[in-house]
Amino acid sequence: MGSSDVTEARPVAAQAARHPLEPLTEEEIRAAVAVVRAQGRLSERARYPTVVLMEPPKERVLSFTEGDPIDRQVEFVVLDKEHKATYEVVVSVTRGEIVSWQQAPEGSQPPVLWEEWDEAEEAVKSDPRFVDACKRRGIENLDHVMVDPVSAGNFGFEHERGRRLVRGVAYWRRDGRDNGYAYPIEGVIPIVDLYERKVVELWEGSEITLPPTHGRYDAEGVGEFRTDLRPLEIHQPEGVSFSVDGNRLRWQKWDLRVSLRSREGLVLHTVSYDGRPIMYRAGLAEMVVPYGDTSQAHFWKAVFDAGEYGLGKMANSLEFGCDCLGEIEYLDAMFCGEQGEPMRIKNAICLHEEDYGILWKHFDARSNETEVRRSRRFVISYICTVGNYEYGFYWYLYQDGAIEHEIKATGIMQTKGLLDGDDPGYATVVAPRLAAPHHQHFFNYRLDMTVDGLRNSVYEVDAEPLPIDPNTNPYGQAMKPRASLVARESEAARDLDLSRNRFWKVVNSNVTNEHGAPTAYRLIPGQNATLLCHPDSAMARRARFAQHHLWVTAYDPEERYAAGGYPNQSDPEVLAGIPKWQQADRNLENEDVVLWYTFGITHFPRPEDWPVAPVERVGFSLKPYGFFSRNPALDVPPPMDHCEPSG
Ligand code: CO
Repeated sequence: MGSSDVTEARPVAAQAARHPLEPLTEEEIRAAVAVVRAQGRLSERARYPTVVLMEPPKERVLSFTEGDPIDRQVEFVVLDKEHKATYEVVVSVTRGEIVSWQQAPEGSQPPVLWEEWDEAEEAVKSDPRFVDACKRRGIENLDHVMVDPVSAGNFGFEHERGRRLVRGVAYWRRDGRDNGYAYPIEGVIPIVDLYERKVVELWEGSEITLPPTHGRYDAEGVGEFRTDLRPLEIHQPEGVSFSVDGNRLRWQKWDLRVSLRSREGLVLHTVSYDGRPIMYRAGLAEMVVPYGDTSQAHFWKAVFDAGEYGLGKMANSLEFGCDCLGEIEYLDAMFCGEQGEPMRIKNAICLHEEDYGILWKHFDARSNETEVRRSRRFVISYICTVGNYEYGFYWYLYQDGAIEHEIKATGIMQTKGLLDGDDPGYATVVAPRLAAPHHQHFFNYRLDMTVDGLRNSVYEVDAEPLPIDPNTNPYGQAMKPRASLVARESEAARDLDLSRNRFWKVVNSNVTNEHGAPTAYRLIPGQNATLLCHPDSAMARRARFAQHHLWVTAYDPEERYAAGGYPNQSDPEVLAGIPKWQQADRNLENEDVVLWYTFGITHFPRPEDWPVAPVERVGFSLKPYGFFSRNPALDVPPPMDHCEPSG
């Protein structure tokens, strides 16, 4: 026993990590939590909403060579519900000690916890006013009631100050497999204090009975399936073309690391192509879904799914043949549960290759020769479920140096019940006496670029048509890109402009291609939207990152979350996140710069989105723009077997 005690007391598990960006192991999580607990400062009701790898300083990661010592550190947000206090703690697992321990800023609320989903539901169902409201709507058996704890927002109501709140949105289910969103228990919103585990206020409007139609989408609920689908199988008889070593992925000329973090979800690290760095880190920095329905039961809805719930910890265990098709490899994700226990999500990240049509082609009519190449892309993805919605997050790497990000939004819409003849207001009727409120989905991605090195500059590029000029443009067709440097943070909140075909490029002015131009990548917007809630509204002020499409900041490792560290119940009066950091007005020319790209969907629901919405895609791409001196995919070989002429 003596010798094992010695082992226990020694700093733990540092030898496990071979690279500073490898995800935390089960042993490291246990060891880190033990160090926190050993302080004896926390009550029985201490919870661990965030326990993630504290990424080491960038210089240290970039200069790391195998065998260098690594100080493995873990970053905690601890919520002590007994003391109503939130702590930010950093632990060195390698040294077995606390690095820092501080109280979070006044009013900081960590995300809604798993246990609080249950606690909120329990509190609501045991509130006599709620039970009575259900009865008056014809619901006697509360076992058939489900309650989603929706983040409360912050509208400055005096009686909500200092509380940890969610607003309960209740639905009825015929049985355990029913789609509750078809039966909103409309016109009653209990407000739950999660510290006290009780309903502190209950708002009730007009009594609206349950809509008449079910919203089942499972086999039994749908009935007959179409019968004309034949099998489609994807085989790679000689195996895949990528390799996985820990969290390091290599495919074609790409080399990168991935991790799944509890808040941000999937993060790409140290992305390079053919040995040349492109991005140090890329991941979702916040998202928000503001609703446009002004009625008392809905006006407050604006969910920040990352900072108020945590996207990564909601990751699904993916299933072969369903979520992913082809020759798949999976990575598990290791998180810390809220009680401090390690928690593994099996098959959380899906890795595979996809055929993606043609890469390039030309038919030479004179020689009668065709050269054509198939395009293949490497897909890194995960899917999470946040209450009623699903979000799939997909990074695609291409053979021509392009990077693409795509979000697939699906799942079930928020709903509201109506009475016969009711005007749905700011909502669309999707089933009898059932409407889905208008809303938007905004995502912000933090893109820490390293195009050929750390020092980059960002230019806004507008397509410029030139005026007719008898000497230089007599026929009026002249056009050119006009690039303007985004020189300082005070001018670095930018917006899309379709009339100018606007995009942005990230340039390394210290490195030139064979044509003498600085190497660059460009950020190409995809579908996008503008935030529709009033700029002075509490929603818009809490989600300022969604007020512009592109923000640029000078790198600071502390600046990570677009709406600040604690968007849950965040005070709209307090400036947080990107615009706050930009007040420093730092220089952005030839600096270590970070791009924050916001994109969104305006979702005016359609009946076709009910009862479960077909995937809606939205995203952006990053493409080389003089990073190479010619098409970098010339060396992709022709298809294995000769293409066979048809007929
Ligand atoms: Co939507």
